[in-house]
Amino acid sequence: MTSWTSIEIKSGGDDAPMLAFAAGEALYAPAAAQDRIRAVVKATGFDPKPGRWLDIVGEGDAGSRIVVIAAGANDSEDRWRNAGGHAVEAIRALALVAARLPSAAELGIGEAFADLIEGVLLHGFRLDQGRSNPVPGQFASTLSIAQDDAPLAEEARLRADPVNRARAWVEQPANRLTPAVFADEAEAALVPLGVRVRQLDLAELEALGAGGILAVAAGSSNEPRLTIAEWRGAPDREGWDAAFVGKGLTFDAGGLNLKARPGIAKMKFDMAGGAAVLGAIERLALRKAPVNIVAVVPMCENNIDGKSYRPGDVITSLAGLTIDVQDTDAEGRIVLADGVTYAIREYDPGVIVDVATLTGAIMGVLHEDFAGLFTSDDALAASLTGAGAATHELLWRLPLVASMAYLVESPVADVSNLGAPGWFGVGGGSPVAGAKFIEKFADGRRWAHLDIAGTGWATRRSSRCGPGATGFGVALLDRWADLAVADKG
Ligand code: BES
Ligand code: MN
Ligand code: ZN
Repeated sequence: MTSWTSIEIKSGGDDAPMLAFAAGEALYAPAAAQDRIRAVVKATGFDPKPGRWLDIVGEGDAGSRIVVIAAGANDSEDRWRNAGGHAVEAIRALALVAARLPSAAELGIGEAFADLIEGVLLHGFRLDQGRSNPVPGQFASTLSIAQDDAPLAEEARLRADPVNRARAWVEQPANRLTPAVFADEAEAALVPLGVRVRQLDLAELEALGAGGILAVAAGSSNEPRLTIAEWRGAPDREGWDAAFVGKGLTFDAGGLNLKARPGIAKMKFDMAGGAAVLGAIERLALRKAPVNIVAVVPMCENNIDGKSYRPGDVITSLAGLTIDVQDTDAEGRIVLADGVTYAIREYDPGVIVDVATLTGAIMGVLHEDFAGLFTSDDALAASLTGAGAATHELLWRLPLVASMAYLVESPVADVSNLGAPGWFGVGGGSPVAGAKFIEKFADGRRWAHLDIAGTGWATRRSSRCGPGATGFGVALLDRWADLAVADKG
């Protein structure tokens, strides 16, 4: 079972070093400690720029030690999450096995205390399962909080756990997270929360005629799954508000269009979209959100074998549309096509949002900072962008227009999986072409596509987490669900 560790939050622990926060002239610390902190800040000239801290070591027990963490001064909910991250960095750099936080009342930050703890839990995340022993210098830390703040800390845990679970899945290597394992683990995580989970296996996908998933999966000895997770939080309301469709490639070698080194090793992360939509369902279920949303995740491995699908093959998708496979490495759109069709046929959702690590090229434009957003629906673009701004999972809208239909035209089939290369051959890996492909299968319905190839994995720290898998999309989709139902927007 994929599991992860993070900083452990507990009540009590008065003898551990205390954390306090500073931003400009503002000090977030118990009244009794303020004079002492201000005196040391003045004496040392400590400038509280985010990422810095001041270690005030007392004369007596560890309990008199205070670590002042610089917190940014912006007023978004991201502020205290980010500060929680800096607190984790200080705890680790100072090798504190235990630390304690003043109460939310002493800090004077009210409900934002939950954001602070969320930041601690997200930044404290670590997937250590591959090691026989923890790396030297990395150790379990506990953070003590006041008993009164336990409910806010629990709220933070419910927000952070689904994000961390998604991150753990993404970081888990492909030999340990096969499609079958991924599906089973999703079921084990979600069923106890009241989510209905179903898995279609190879024989069922064959019977169904999911030709896209079957073609991509053909070159791997690990059988595919189609995993479906239904959250019915508004059982009295008929129908489905939305369907989330996530790309679940547990490994993407590229198939016969084999990927070149060194990027190939990273391709265990190619199920980040699937992990994100399942994480979003977990958050909806944990907070019992009054929405009816289903997640559909095609899970498979794109590998190389005598049974692999070939460049030039024409395959028939679940929708019945034929696909000209010009490049076996453009596999994500093929499995998403079947996922989207399945969602439409079985659930008739009000809106569809797909999430996928679809194109390397998106990274050359939006880097790790924005996911690409594609939709022809302005209201949907606005609600998704707004949700992402609130959770700090940023989206940037890119063109999706009728006149670019030529990008996915094929002389031999209904649709081609490779964008028309154009002048100098540049454009073959076009993110827009990927979106145009999936759009065909959305069949005129309200639909948006998020390309998270750049945001699903971070090489740098952000306000939400340290380097590694980010869980991008979990919080965003959870937030968006409220907007989607409030104004169907
Ligand atoms: N999973 C990749 C996208 C990807 C590539 C993510 C590199 C992160 C880093 C996807 O399946 C893929 O291979 N896309 C191709 C599409 C092309 C063949 C049209 C790409 O981006 O090169
Ligand atoms: Mn690929
Ligand atoms: Zn891929």
